Amino acid sequence: MKIAIINGPNLNLLGVREPEIYGGQRFEDYFAALCKRYEGTVQLEYFQSNVEGGIIDELHRRGFDCDGIVLNAGAYTHTSLAIADAIRSIAAPVVEVHISNVHKREPVRHHSMISCACAGVIAGFGLDSYRLAVEALLAMKSA
Ligand code: DQA
Repeated sequence: MKIAIINGPNLNLLGVREPEIYGGQRFEDYFAALCKRYEGTVQLEYFQSNVEGGIIDELHRRGFDCDGIVLNAGAYTHTSLAIADAIRSIAAPVVEVHISNVHKREPVRHHSMISCACAGVIAGFGLDSYRLAVEALLAMKSA
């Protein structure tokens, strides 16, 4: 089982960026622990880009090669029809993830352009949202 985690803009600054919202852990450290947890079960791969086209290219690349994708599109969640179209164009199921509970935040964050193209959405559990998304993909695979 191969799962790719794709992070969008500003998520390279996790641990530094608004820690009161996103926590104090660097994503690289969280990802290393996640890989360890799933060692021998799930092969996890990680990609981050601040560029919309970079995220789309990675969805195209991973979307026919992985069993599932965990996507935190950052602010592009709320704006990008192009990312929604990319999700619809690939074979792998995509789980939309947010670290914060976007529904508790500013109204502009309440709408997602990509949810309707995704298998499901997980939001508000801090970095643990990514693990929950991996579990959702595993459950889908074995269903
Ligand atoms: C985010 C929520 C988005 O609204 C925001 O633009 C982000 C991070 C989250 O993980 O909570 O960059 O996707």
